Parts: sequence; structure tokens; C-alpha cells
Amino acid sequence: MFKPKYHIFVCTSSRVNGQQKGFCQSRESVEIVNSFMEEIEERGLGGQVMVSNTGCLALCEKGPIVVVYPDNVWYGGVSPEDAVEIMDVHIEGGSPVKRLEI
Ligand code: FES
Repeated sequence: MFKPKYHIFVCTSSRVNGQQKGFCQSRESVEIVNSFMEEIEERGLGGQVMVSNTGCLALCEKGPIVVVYPDNVWYGGVSPEDAVEIMDVHIEGGSPVKRLEI
């Protein structure tokens, strides 16, 4: 069974019925997921890092929300470009990106 070293969750405001509707979705969260997927692929980290989209995490006013486990670090106001910094500084560098932490 594959257990990633890091699991990145991105709120895409997905509803139970599969519909994507809500704040994070309206602020490029699908593009954030794609950015993480591209970075994981380009860095050859597919065996260590996994990204998943989630439903609303109840912090809409601070969205788009990204959560990195097992570190339990929550990021807010994330952009697709910020995904690159999170990969550089947190996932590969081992330290949270302070300016995005909530
Ligand atoms: S829609 Fe993302 S936290 Fe609510």
C-alpha cells in the first residue's frame, strides 16, 4: 500500500454531488491542484508526495486553502504560483512557507 511522505490537500469546494461551487473553486483552486501535480511529476516525487482535492474546509474567507500532512500546516490565500514555492520550501526544503501559513 502506497503511503506518501507528504499528502497535500487542496480545497476545490467540491460538493458531495461532485459539483464544484464555492469560494476556493472561484479562486483558481483547480489550477492549484494542477500546479502541484505538474511540480510533483517534474521533480520525480510521485512516489513520495500525493495531492488530493477536498470539499469546503470551512475557512472560505482565507481561501484558497491548502493543507500539508503529516505536518498539519494550513495555508491560505494560495495561488497556482505559490504551489511552486510550497514545493521548494516545504516539501523539498522541510520548512513551512511562513508568509502563507494561517
Ligand atoms: S470553499 Fe474552500 S474553505 Fe470553503
